[in-house]
Parts: sequence; C-alpha cells; structure tokens
Amino acid sequence: MDIAMNYKASDQLQDLQYFGEFGGINPSISDASTYTFLSAKTMFDTFEGNTEGCYLYSRHSSPSNLYLGEALAALESTETANVYASGMGAISSVILQLCNAQDHIVSSRTIYGGTYAFLKYFLKKFSISTSFVDITQTEEVEKAITAETKMIYCEGVSNPLLEVADIRALSKLAKKYGIPLVVDNTFSPLTLAAAGLGADVVIHSLTKFINGSGDCVAGAVCGTAQFCLSLKDVNHGAGMLLGSTLDSLRAASILKNMRTLHIRIKKHSENAGYLAHQFEKDGLPVVYPGLTSHPGHERMKKQMTPSYGFGGIVTIDVGSLGKANALMELMQRKNLGYLAVSLGFYKTLFSAPGTSTSSEIPPEEQRAMGLSEGLLRFSIGLDNDIHRTYQMMKACMAELGILEQRVTAV
Ligand SMILES: Cc1ncc(COP(=O)(O)O)c(C=O)c1O
Repeated sequence: MDIAMNYKASDQLQDLQYFGEFGGINPSISDASTYTFLSAKTMFDTFEGNTEGCYLYSRHSSPSNLYLGEALAALESTETANVYASGMGAISSVILQLCNAQDHIVSSRTIYGGTYAFLKYFLKKFSISTSFVDITQTEEVEKAITAETKMIYCEGVSNPLLEVADIRALSKLAKKYGIPLVVDNTFSPLTLAAAGLGADVVIHSLTKFINGSGDCVAGAVCGTAQFCLSLKDVNHGAGMLLGSTLDSLRAASILKNMRTLHIRIKKHSENAGYLAHQFEKDGLPVVYPGLTSHPGHERMKKQMTPSYGFGGIVTIDVGSLGKANALMELMQRKNLGYLAVSLGFYKTLFSAPGTSTSSEIPPEEQRAMGLSEGLLRFSIGLDNDIHRTYQMMKACMAELGILEQRVTAV
C-alpha cells in the first residue's frame, strides 16, 4: 500500500478549520483588489516574494484564494495549490510555465477537446509540438519521448472515453527521463489520489465535480510549493502574467461547496454504477470504469480509493448521431436532465462529445480513438431514486428504438 491508498483526503478536508474575521464559521471573504502596507520596505520585500502573510494585489493572491488553495492541496496531498479563473486557465498556465519554444510534449490522445486544441493548434505559435499517444500503452508513451520532451500530460480518467491512465507507471517513466507528469484529475476527484500515485502536478477544472453547483468556471493547480510559487512569480509566472485569476467571492463559494464533495462523489458513483450495470445488462454498449468489461477496470481498482466508487461519468453508444440527438432531446423533455456540456451537477447532463466537447478533434482522429458519432456522455446526477430514473431513461430509449424491448414497470 502506498501513500495514494492510505491518504484520507476527506479527513484532511474535514479537519481544515477556519475562523472568520469576526469568529464566523466560514472565513471572511477578501473584498479587495489591493492591500496596504505600513512600510514601503515591506511592499518591496513582498514583490520579491519574501514576506509571509502579506498580500500584494489580488491577481497574485488573496486570502480567499489561499483558503481554497489550501483545501485543494489537502484534497490532492500536495504541498500547496493555486486557483485559477477556469480549468483552461490552470492548464494553459502549467504548460506555458513548463515549456519553452521548440519543446515537445507527450500527451494522451483522449483528453478534453479544449486541451487538445491548445496543445495541437495554439502552441504552434511557439513551435511547441505534441505527440498524441494511447496513454494506456506505456511503451508507446516511452517511444514518443525525445530529448526535447518537457512533460507527460494525461487525464486520470479521460474525457470522454474514460480511459484510465496508469499513473504509477507513467510517473516511473517520467522520473526515468527527468520530466514532470501532469495529470488532469477533473473526472476523478477523491477517487484517484493522483499526486499520491506519482503525478508531479495535478490540475482540476473546479467547474465540474468540485464546485458541483454548475454556477461558475474555475480551475486549480496542485503541486510543490516551488512550482506553485513559480507560477506566481511577478517576472516569470504564467499564472501571474497571463492573469487567469479567480475572483475571491467565487473562491469562497467553491470552498463552501467542497464541504460536501465526498458525499456527492459517492452518490454520483452509486447512481452511475447502477445505470451502467443496468444498461449493459440491457445489451447496450456502455463504457464505465466500474464494469468488468472496461479495459481499465483492474487498473482503476489498483489505483482508486474504493469508498468513492468509479465516478459519475458513463458513456453509451446509441448507434448514430441522429439517435443520440433525439434521445437527448427526449430525455430533456422528460426532465431527466439537461442537454448540456460539463459535469458534476445535481441533475444528469448529457452531450454528444463528437459534435461538442471533442469537436476540436478531427473526425478521422475521433474514429481512430474510438469516439463514435453515436457516443453519448452522461454526467449522472444525484437522483435519490435511481431505479425510477433508469425506468424513465429506458422508456425514452425504447420509444426511439434504441432498446428494442418494451419497458414493463417494476
Ligand atoms: C477534463 C477536463 N479538463 C479541463 C476542462 C476545462 O475546464 P474549464 O471549462 O473549467 O476551463 C474540462 C472542461 O470540460 C475538462 O472536461
């Protein structure tokens, strides 16, 4: 058993205790863009990064952002964490901090479409190139590494194909070549202790499960104090200079929502697991890491914290884009959830990744990686009676000829 399996993130989060300015049970929200100094010398020292407990300007840091950062560091068992105005703000800052012009990245080929576009198209401006590989094949990852490679990049559980990265093996490989392993853990907070498993930098889009309310975009970078400070450096820090800073008011609300993360993740997983098993039994092509038919099932079991389950995301291939669209529209009309991108909401969210969140990936590459037209991604909600939801979803599928058998009420 290694640190990843022993680390109790929810205990660490539970034990974080703050007293607000007036003794409030939530810390006070920092409602200031800038901070006063009693002496000019302290201001100078703060610019040099030398003063503990002094704030400079809220693009650099603010008390509310530091509180949220502390909770994210506790979640991922890293020394510290920085928060950003979006997941992409976090991702782009990390990549631009670690790579210079002419450098090379080895990345999983199944990643969030925005990250793919950033790596494939945007970074061309800086002549930074990326080799996209099947991350589940460690030898393939190793073969792609060159003298210019500055990082291995992947998602713990990938969007949208739910491929499970072997974080321990990738970490060993990264160490062998002296490069960092960067893991986006957005799909599997609490479930995968990515840093404990060997990731050097862990990224989250807080927009999703961590905030869980569907009311903001935000991101985080969890890592060593040295790396997180480098991102804030007033001369060289991508976080500081690109300006993707989270607003303090929003940081405070995300911190409050994080208090229920453990309960929500368990319920998302329980519901997703139930539906995945039922629809697989009904003969549908279901992808879910909790199914023994999933190629990464055993790998997931070896890495996960079992009490949180296999996560809240399920994909089902309904055969064609036409059927996928018709099913989503029908399910929305029946109040089963929303035809919307994103994840981690209390209601189920569904989208067809090929024409939405992964549309940045060219169709031939989508086909090569197994992202079919009829693939639907479901972020399963917190429904109290998931059996009722199953019956209703099944009725929608039967109505559209996706499931042949008629539904009999149980
Ligand atoms: C795995 C993953 N990482 C990062 C992002 C980007 O996050 P944000 O939308 O908060 O910028 C997303 C968004 O869908 C995602 O699914």
